[in-house]
Amino acid sequence: MTDAIALAADHGGYELKALLAKDLTDAGIAVVDLGTNSADSVDYPDYADRLAAALKDGRATRGVLICGTGVGISIAANRHRHIRAALCHDETTTRLCRQHNDANVLVLGARVTGPEVARACLKVFLSTKFEGGRHERRVAKLA
Ligand code: RB5
Repeated sequence: MTDAIALAADHGGYELKALLAKDLTDAGIAVVDLGTNSADSVDYPDYADRLAAALKDGRATRGVLICGTGVGISIAANRHRHIRAALCHDETTTRLCRQHNDANVLVLGARVTGPEVARACLKVFLSTKFEGGRHERRVAKLA
């Protein structure tokens, strides 16, 4: 099992993905970039599926998904039972999705969340631990 972070985005999110991937690489964190890498139109469910596969087979332990709003790609990701994808627009939600929901995928909307907020959310996502306790039972019920 690796501690690498997988990232995937559609054409609405690839620029933010590149920014976050660079931040992670600069911080010495291994990145698995699953595309897309251009403005050419693609379908966000395909990228959610790629990321779900990467977490399932152990190429990465956590992931980041980005589309225009974050909505479509989070719906697609959460169809996979092993994925707990949280669409976040702020640091508080991001902290709580780790502490309470043990979210393993941070979802961002590049057309609604600015790059500095997105960067701050990613930092919080990676540095916050699951609290366990009463939340264990609830998270177990999701699976
Ligand atoms: C693509 O135009 C856009 O629909 C997609 O990025 C996302 O916002 C869907 O939820």
